[in-house]
Amino acid sequence: MNITALKPFKITWAVLLCTFFSALAHAQENLYIPLETQHNALVLSVSNSHDLNIAYYGKRLNSDKEYSSVLRQYNQTGDYSQVLDAAYTSAGSRNLMEPAISVIHADGNTSLSLKYISHKVEDLDENISQASIKLEDTAYGFNVSLYYKLYKKEDVIEQWSELSHNEKGPVELTKFASGNLYFRDAQYYLTQYHGDWAHEMNPETSLLTHGIKTIDSKLGTRANLFQPSVFMVAMDQPATEDEGTVLFGAMEWSGNFKIDLELDYRDNLRLIAGMNNYASSYKLEKGEIFETPKFLHLLSHNGKGEASRKLHSWAKDYKLLDGNGERLTLLNNWEATYFDFEEKKLFELLKDTKELGVDLFLLDDGWFGNKYPRNNDDAGLGDWQANKRKLPNGVSSLVKEAGENGVKFGIWIEPEMVNPESELYHEHPEWVIKQPKRKEHYFRNQLVLDLSNPKVQDFVFNVVNDLFLENPELAYIKWDCNAVIYNAYSSHLDKQSHLYIDYVKGLYNVLERIRKKYPKVPMMLCSGGGGRVDYAALEYFTEFWPSDNTDPLERIFMQWEYSYFYPAISVANHVTEWGKQPLKFRVDVAMMGKLGFDIVVGELEQKDLQFVQHAVKTYDDIKQIVWQGDLYRLSDPKNTDFASLMYVNEEKDQAVVFNYLVNNRYGQGSKRPVKLGGLDPEKRYRIQEINLYPGTSSYIDSNQVYSGDFLMKIGFNPKVGKGKESVLLKVEAVR
Ligand code: DGJ
Repeated sequence: MNITALKPFKITWAVLLCTFFSALAHAQENLYIPLETQHNALVLSVSNSHDLNIAYYGKRLNSDKEYSSVLRQYNQTGDYSQVLDAAYTSAGSRNLMEPAISVIHADGNTSLSLKYISHKVEDLDENISQASIKLEDTAYGFNVSLYYKLYKKEDVIEQWSELSHNEKGPVELTKFASGNLYFRDAQYYLTQYHGDWAHEMNPETSLLTHGIKTIDSKLGTRANLFQPSVFMVAMDQPATEDEGTVLFGAMEWSGNFKIDLELDYRDNLRLIAGMNNYASSYKLEKGEIFETPKFLHLLSHNGKGEASRKLHSWAKDYKLLDGNGERLTLLNNWEATYFDFEEKKLFELLKDTKELGVDLFLLDDGWFGNKYPRNNDDAGLGDWQANKRKLPNGVSSLVKEAGENGVKFGIWIEPEMVNPESELYHEHPEWVIKQPKRKEHYFRNQLVLDLSNPKVQDFVFNVVNDLFLENPELAYIKWDCNAVIYNAYSSHLDKQSHLYIDYVKGLYNVLERIRKKYPKVPMMLCSGGGGRVDYAALEYFTEFWPSDNTDPLERIFMQWEYSYFYPAISVANHVTEWGKQPLKFRVDVAMMGKLGFDIVVGELEQKDLQFVQHAVKTYDDIKQIVWQGDLYRLSDPKNTDFASLMYVNEEKDQAVVFNYLVNNRYGQGSKRPVKLGGLDPEKRYRIQEINLYPGTSSYIDSNQVYSGDFLMKIGFNPKVGKGKESVLLKVEAVR
């Protein structure tokens, strides 16, 4: 491995020539460590007193020598403690602000002062380098290693830390962030998200004011239900799709998280992100290493569009399981049957799957439990044996029948959960998270299993493993998670404050084992809708379920927001009966991701059936462009009467444009052309409307040829309006 020490360089005391206050803050800096991606640099500096600070995070300079001049251009008020811009703000010594780390030492002392010891940078491959910086509190023998993984082409940085110590007894970690950033811009516009069941991903943008704004979760499991950990910070002014400097951030962690954005008295922004320390102080033994999860961020200077395209490409290449691979279209029975089915009905649905032309049938909730049959959501969770009344021949007869119909078979599980009405609950009450002296409180009539316990981890692993051992042809898993953690208490753990963290570690341990044995079987990450999605979980899952709300009008808005952070190939969209829109509208919206159906195919009118069958073929034709193409958001449904989104392939010779009317008031529609994005100005293109409903025709003249230059500067009118509520366009270069 090629280890290249960074080129730190010294500056002189000439710094003293700058203003008194700046000098007070930075005169003593003498070592600069620029961590560079293709367009950006995160520059750390080491002062003469060995504090590690953040000198700069912004556009990369041509000469790294000039990073040392950056701070001289600032004339802000004084940094009294000289650690305001710390690279990992520690509590209890000079710091007066929100810390990234706080500890109680073995002797009960609560101060921490971390000093720079050394650093190195390794090139992991042509695109990735990793910096590690060692810090130490020499008064206590407490060590921190900060890690920065730099994905150069994508401008993505992953940050995390490792904590350890050499003290006489255990040290209590009371805060343990993954990353700490510091910005010196004029203003900051935070875009954060909030939601609830069936109402996920609602954006809110606000100007950050002085003090601390916190985005966090204390739900334990399905941690994103009310607030996901993804966010954006636009610098100086709100960013648009194509303009503005904007930071995208996200925690790679599926449990409680905490992101603090603190605008300090100098008008600078300290950003601290990590696991939530709420009720989670962690006892660290001598010699043990505590590794935090990764905090990912990406800075773009060309708006939200570029930021999301880079994030998608990073996700597909480095995070999302099989990000550049294939996906299966499917028919799911949840909304078609709910819990009410038996083998015969499912055999019919398998035939429908074939008739529809999709790849796989997905059997949802309700197939298990005998003593406590799963006929509604009151009972059965935890008892993963096929219900003998509904499935007298077991799951394997369904898998076999699917094969005979030429389709694949997938199954729903919710292995982290238990209903009190289950054999599992009665056999192993000690495996359940609940307070010994308090009344149980349920979320969807269920409780969470204690994944901090290795025995529970084995149990959960075996739910999956047994299904595969019995049915080697099983082709898909939908992994649900419907409850949050109430009454957090583990009868396995000595130290209760470890539960929230050890739960998630236990979950990853199980997923790791599953992926070791079944590396590529597609799995959907579901959580009673979109309650759980993040890039740590997506290392094990091929796709996620954004919401139980499949009303296409709602989904246009939701999918728009998810699309900033997650690529279309990872977003499972199903056509269902939700919403009042015609079938074509519903299908067009679901096509903007990974297509599935949750409808009663047998009840479709002839024309509807013909349409969906044809739509599945159309989807086959365009799916690679949607999954692997570059996304351009052209018309924002929040500000206009219609949404327009476009995916362009790498060669720029094929694109698909999705257009949906979102305002049904009189005369609303696409009155002006929509400027397309990502095309080659020199290429000439034809545009054709696709996915037409049988018997309807298009307003679009597919013989007309346009230059890419025209389509991007003038645009094209998709002719969305009353009677044409959704229009799918295929753009193809003319040879
Ligand atoms: C919640 C999921 O989001 C639904 O799709 C469905 O699988 C139900 N759980 C089943 O209980």
